[in-house]
Amino acid sequence: MNALHAGKPAILGGPRAVTMDGSEANRWPLLTAEDEAAVLNVIRHGDLSLHPVTRELEDDYRMRCGRRHALAHCNGTAAMLAAFFALNLEPGDEILVPSATHWASVLPMLWTGAVPVFCESEPERMGLDAVDVERRVTPRTRAMVVVHLWGMPARMAELRAVAARHKLKVLEDASHAHGATWHDTPCGALGDVSVFSLQSSKLAPAGEGGILLTDDDALYERAICLGDMVRIAELETPALRFAGTSFGVKTRIAPLSAAIAHVQLRHLDERNAVRNANIEYLSVKLERLGLHTFLSPVDVQRVYFEFLVRYDEKDLGLPIGTLLKALAAEGCDVSWPRYPLLHQQPFFTEGHSARIARTGTPPPEYRPDALPRTEAFSACLLKLPSFPRASRELLDQYAVAFEKILSHAYALGKA
Ligand SMILES: Cc1ncc(COP(=O)(O)O)c(C=O)c1O
Repeated sequence: MNALHAGKPAILGGPRAVTMDGSEANRWPLLTAEDEAAVLNVIRHGDLSLHPVTRELEDDYRMRCGRRHALAHCNGTAAMLAAFFALNLEPGDEILVPSATHWASVLPMLWTGAVPVFCESEPERMGLDAVDVERRVTPRTRAMVVVHLWGMPARMAELRAVAARHKLKVLEDASHAHGATWHDTPCGALGDVSVFSLQSSKLAPAGEGGILLTDDDALYERAICLGDMVRIAELETPALRFAGTSFGVKTRIAPLSAAIAHVQLRHLDERNAVRNANIEYLSVKLERLGLHTFLSPVDVQRVYFEFLVRYDEKDLGLPIGTLLKALAAEGCDVSWPRYPLLHQQPFFTEGHSARIARTGTPPPEYRPDALPRTEAFSACLLKLPSFPRASRELLDQYAVAFEKILSHAYALGKA
């Protein structure tokens, strides 16, 4: 379809491009009789706290990712806390983190006394920028948190090289990247310790749940000691002495959630394939219009927790706010991405983070203008639906909406 055929934008009085109802096309999670049977199975078993399905889920993740250990958690945030705790951090230890991520990639570390040091993300894959990360290494730096944001594997070769040079641990937050691979290695196998969230919107949802993976016996043991009473009691090491207390929190998954996660994981690859095919189909059309859609680079197979595109108003001539209004008028569900940059949040800029971490040293100054490159590219991002079950017709309608609007950029800019 070319601009001539695309017609007048709806915001200028033309017909809406998107006439199909997107609710079925975007329904997620996909729950079927198989999930219902798995939940019923747990209910009929009768033990709602401990059920074999938890270990089955852990085994599936362990095998999928080729890891030695897997430990299921009540959510991804708890799994992140366990991962930080596993690293045996001292108060004041610094961890290099992205600002462009969900807060749970970062904030749980504060309960161990560690200090987040925010780094720039790079605009092509949206993950940590290895050059900027290395610049921020100090004698107190112990680890980095690598996030595969929106399902795009980060630049692991460069980041691992920095980690190796400075003897840093890599904590991989793979919460957006179930089923993605980097150089044929699954996400979830790329960190000293790796975490998945299984929250309801994720690609392999449990409702609420999280998975921690590692090959390191000592890290696994510490993760257990944080808050899994039953597993501590099973240890055959001196850590068994903590069976009467844990380290003060409780982290295990509910088997009802594990049962759903177990079924969902079985369908992960086939459902990722549909979502990927739909988004790639639309991406090719949007790329032709000048948007950057973050298609998989050659060395990775990405997945799409969410579908973000980069729109550069300098190149395309229409302010991004006007584009959003015009897309809404066309019937498109397009919005700003939903994570605010963490380093700009009052929790950090007003000093609350330091009150939790209590390092005894002056808190770092978190300045809202500290990451200009991350800020610049984040301001150009738009979130589209993830189209887990969309028809080609609906995807074509979205493409027409963008095409109509961008081919009338001049008129719309004046409107
Ligand atoms: C990147 C990332 N890490 C961690 C989490 C925390 O997971 P949960 O919501 O399961 O606690 C999320 C949740 O959205 C996330 O997006």
